[in-house]
Amino acid sequence: MSVPTSRTKESARITVIEEKCDGCGKCVSICSDFCLELLNGKAHPSGKAVFGCIACGHCMAVCPEAAIEIHGRFLSPEDMFPLPGREQAANHEQLLALMQRRRSIRKYRNIPVEKEVIDRVLEAARSAPMGIPPTDVNIMILDSREKVRAFTEDFARYLEKVKWLTSGWFLALMRPFWGKATDEFFRGFMKPLVDKYLTDMKKGVNVITYDAPVALYFYGSPYCDPADSIIAATYAMLAAESLGLGTCMLGAIHPFIQNGKAATRFREKHGIHFKSREGLFVIMGYPKAEFLKGIRRN
Ligand SMILES: Cc1cc2nc3c(=O)[nH]c(=O)nc-3n(C[C@H](O)[C@H](O)[C@H](O)COP(=O)(O)O)c2cc1C
Repeated sequence: MSVPTSRTKESARITVIEEKCDGCGKCVSICSDFCLELLNGKAHPSGKAVFGCIACGHCMAVCPEAAIEIHGRFLSPEDMFPLPGREQAANHEQLLALMQRRRSIRKYRNIPVEKEVIDRVLEAARSAPMGIPPTDVNIMILDSREKVRAFTEDFARYLEKVKWLTSGWFLALMRPFWGKATDEFFRGFMKPLVDKYLTDMKKGVNVITYDAPVALYFYGSPYCDPADSIIAATYAMLAAESLGLGTCMLGAIHPFIQNGKAATRFREKHGIHFKSREGLFVIMGYPKAEFLKGIRRN
C-alpha cells in the first residue's frame, strides 16, 4: 500500500547498503510503520509496513553510517543537510520574545521586501511538519505591492459578483444546514466585512490586503491534511518576524474562492492549482508603527 497525495501515489524505495550497515537498529526503532527489520545483524526492508515508506526520512537521518537511502516521493539522500547545532537554535526566551513581540501589522512602509528575505521566509516554511510527506502545501507568491494590489482589485471585482453569498435570503436558506453559530458569524461578521471590503475598495482604500509589499497564500490539495497549509503559514509568519518584517494573517479571502464555477475561474486566472479545505494568506512588509506594549491574552 502507499499513501496517495496530489504529487505522488507511490511508496518510496528503501535501500540498505549492507557493507555500511553495522546493525545498530536505530533505523528499525525510529520507523513507526515497521518498514525495516534486523536480519542477521543487518537492517532490511521488512515488507510489513501498513502504509509503505512515506519518505519521512527519519531512518536516513538517524543512521550513523549513512547506510540507508530513501528514493522517491520527492526525497533522496541529497536532500539531507547537517543539523544546526543546539547552540545555534533559538532558546525558549528568544522564541518567546519573538512570539510576544509579534502583532498583526496592517500598515507598511512603502519599501519592497528583498527577494533574499522572501526566500528565507520560504525556506523556513519548508521545514514545517505535514500530515503525510511529501508536503501538499502550495504557495501563491505575490512579491510586490503592485502584484498584491492587482490581485486584491481582481478579488474585489470577483467578490462583487458573489456577494449574494452573504445576502439575507441565502443566509436564511443555509441556516438549517450550517447551524446557528455559522449563521451568527456570517450575519455579524462576514456580511458587514464584505460590504466594507467593497465600499472601501471603491474609495481606493485596501482593507483586504492593506497594500502590503508581499502576500503569500498557503493552500493545500484535496488530499492533504487541512491543517498543513495553516502550519506552513505559521512557520512563514514567525520566520518573517525574525527577519524584521511585520505580518498579518488573512483568513477572509480563502473561503470565498473555493466553491462554484466563478471561484474555479478566479483560481485558474491566478494560478491557484487547487480548491482546498483550508488556506490562509500571510501578508508582510516592513512595519510603519512600533508597538510599545505586549498584550497578555487569556
Ligand atoms: C486565522 C486568522 C485569520 C485572520 N484574518 C484576518 C483578516 O482577514 N484581516 C485582518 O485584518 N486580520 C486578520 N487576522 C488577524 C487577527 O485579527 C489578529 O491576530 C487579532 O486581532 C489579534 O491581534 P494580534 O495578532 O496583533 O495579537 C487573522 C488572524 C488569524 C490567526
